[in-house]
Amino acid sequence: MKKWYAVIGDPIAHSLSPYMHETWFKENGVDAAYIPVHVEPAELEKSFSALKTLGVSGFNITLPHKEAILPLLDRLDDTASIMGAVNTVAFDGGQYIGYNTDGDGFVQSLFAAPVSLSEKVLVIGAGGAARGIAFALKRAGFSDVSIANRTFRRAEELAQDVSGTAITLQQAEKELGQYGVIIQTTSVGLSKDQALPISMENIKPGSIAADIIYNPLETPFLLKAKEQGCMTLNGVGMFVYQGAIAFEKWTGIKPDTEKMKESITNKLGGQYVNK
Ligand code: ATR
Repeated sequence: MKKWYAVIGDPIAHSLSPYMHETWFKENGVDAAYIPVHVEPAELEKSFSALKTLGVSGFNITLPHKEAILPLLDRLDDTASIMGAVNTVAFDGGQYIGYNTDGDGFVQSLFAAPVSLSEKVLVIGAGGAARGIAFALKRAGFSDVSIANRTFRRAEELAQDVSGTAITLQQAEKELGQYGVIIQTTSVGLSKDQALPISMENIKPGSIAADIIYNPLETPFLLKAKEQGCMTLNGVGMFVYQGAIAFEKWTGIKPDTEKMKESITNKLGGQYVNK
């Protein structure tokens, strides 16, 4: 029987996940559909139950349900349970299993740039996204990871969990030149006229500046980093790779990520500069 998958969130109309997965199903000859489902927070439990009844084979979860879905699932893999958040569910062996592919998706996108594991890495932010990325960086073998956050206590908590170093935003500004990779994970930058999370005067030319935001394609953080001679990486890569890891969990197939990065970038009105 034809399989079907979904993405649930609130809002959901803007999601590019249906386009991405439907394209990959077609490219790989998989007879399956992928549907966006608008689920309000109060309806999460009922909606999940409905998805199960209708035989969903897997689904993605976006804001604001990534944490609330946890107690409803049969099992979590290690990464999802460390992160306390799920972005992918697969139906396997009669169980709905929760995964989190965001952090690994980011790190895979980082490896598309010429990066060395010996670089000092700075993560700006200590929320859910930063947590996934910090763990994935450690797993990938980056040994020197600092976390800078507005609320210092959250930086300390995350740094402790990943054996990293917590610093303040002021310290990050002063010591920015020491870092070969700087990752912007805060919500500052979602609109073009927003300020930067830190001042970037001291950034080292040639370093890699990455933002997890992909709309706008070029956040104020990336624009400033480019002006200062950095290599920039927007959030399109993370979006595509987190989806590719989910797709592989569902189908066992590794989809074409290069072509997808290009078409998602085009869809967002930009040129593909993210190679
Ligand atoms: P997500 O799960 O998307 O990472 P989150 O858990 O709400 O979202 O985290 C948002 C991150 O952006 C946090 O690190 C937050 O800093 P605080 O922990 O101090 O709240 C950071 N952030 C949001 N607005 C910010 C701002 N104006 N300046 C600096 N950091 C900001």
